[in-house]
Amino acid sequence: MTVLVTGGAGFIGSNFIFHMLDAHPDYRIVCVDKLTYAGNLSTLESVMDDPNFRFCKLDICDREGVDELFAEEKPDIVVNFAAESHVDRSIENPEIFLQTNIVGTSVMMDAARKYGVKRYHQVSTDEVYGDLPLDRPDLFFTETTPIHTSSPYSSSKAGADLLVLAYHRTYGLPVTISRCSNNYGPYHFPEKLIPLMIANALADKPLPVYGKGENVRDWLYVEDHCKAIDLIIHNGRVGEVYNVGGHNEMANIDIVKLICKELGKPESLITYVTDRKGHDMRYAIDPTKIHNELGWLPETKFADGIKKTIKWYLENEKWWKDIISGEYQNYYEKMYGNR
Ligand code: NAD
Ligand code: TYD
Repeated sequence: MTVLVTGGAGFIGSNFIFHMLDAHPDYRIVCVDKLTYAGNLSTLESVMDDPNFRFCKLDICDREGVDELFAEEKPDIVVNFAAESHVDRSIENPEIFLQTNIVGTSVMMDAARKYGVKRYHQVSTDEVYGDLPLDRPDLFFTETTPIHTSSPYSSSKAGADLLVLAYHRTYGLPVTISRCSNNYGPYHFPEKLIPLMIANALADKPLPVYGKGENVRDWLYVEDHCKAIDLIIHNGRVGEVYNVGGHNEMANIDIVKLICKELGKPESLITYVTDRKGHDMRYAIDPTKIHNELGWLPETKFADGIKKTIKWYLENEKWWKDIISGEYQNYYEKMYGNR
């Protein structure tokens, strides 16, 4: 069995590759990644010499390159993680989001059709459902919640999802889609909330909380997401969407305070800054379908997962310090300098 994983040098893709090599020692895993600012080859260092693993530096929008790779590898399963993934960057510059997230998805699916893959899996997000109000804790996203996006990022992911379902209906491509809530864990790029706050707190720098910090996200430990995708690509029903989330809702401010506590840093580091434009209030997943059909349940509780994550950042300083010492400094200055 050959599984082609795109975006495998990023946060969730790399964790998925580690999971697959471990859980399926007889599988061949081929990773395709363009190595954008968010992709780090150092993340994959531990598997580079694994005979069951191949890394291929390639843009998923490169039709010829993708075709050649499919001709060579004849993958059985494709899992598409590759994307521009940061909402704040999408607000600054939407174009690359449309290119990679929508056009790239169509290029991957055209190759999947041509070479007759057994399963094309699209890694999507709960953000395609828009947001829920804070005063209605009884509401959750189900797979039938209408698509209703807020940011260029979520709109590009929603566009890709619609295209994936259209390829299923029009061409009979055997697709599945997972829509997951916010992930956290090792190798999370330090522009995102949890690793950014850990890195800043360790450096005694201000902790920039957008708006009042009331926005709620439904946090899932990355390994639990990877296990869900493994189940879906093997046992999920073709043409179906599966929501993935762990009923683990937290307000941003509570997460930042927890990080301060775990690191022994004062809450006086917290700085309220200008809110994100169009900022979604609350995400909350109803995971009943994946639980009932595939038996999936999250295994890591947030209290344990956040401790494990902080420990990982403490033990792997070089990984994130190399990142934040480079081009990322310009990004940080631009986004937070006058906020
Ligand atoms: P990430 O930004 O950490 O990684 C994205 C990876 O894709 C990087 O390695 C990057 O180099 C690669 N990439 C970008 N453009 C590419 C292109 N044109 N061709 C080939 N490779 C390219 O993102 P992530 O957080 O790991 O997210 C992975 C996927 O999961 C995305 O599709 C995202 O929408 C989805 N998702 C993320 C979350 C989350 O909380 N992070 C939650 C739900 C869904
Ligand atoms: P993020 O990690 O960017 O994920 P997403 O926007 O996809 O949910 O942000 C998580 C939440 O944290 C979101 O409500 C925005 C907020 N946030 C801050 O308050 N400060 C920050 O510096 C960042 C990056 C995010």
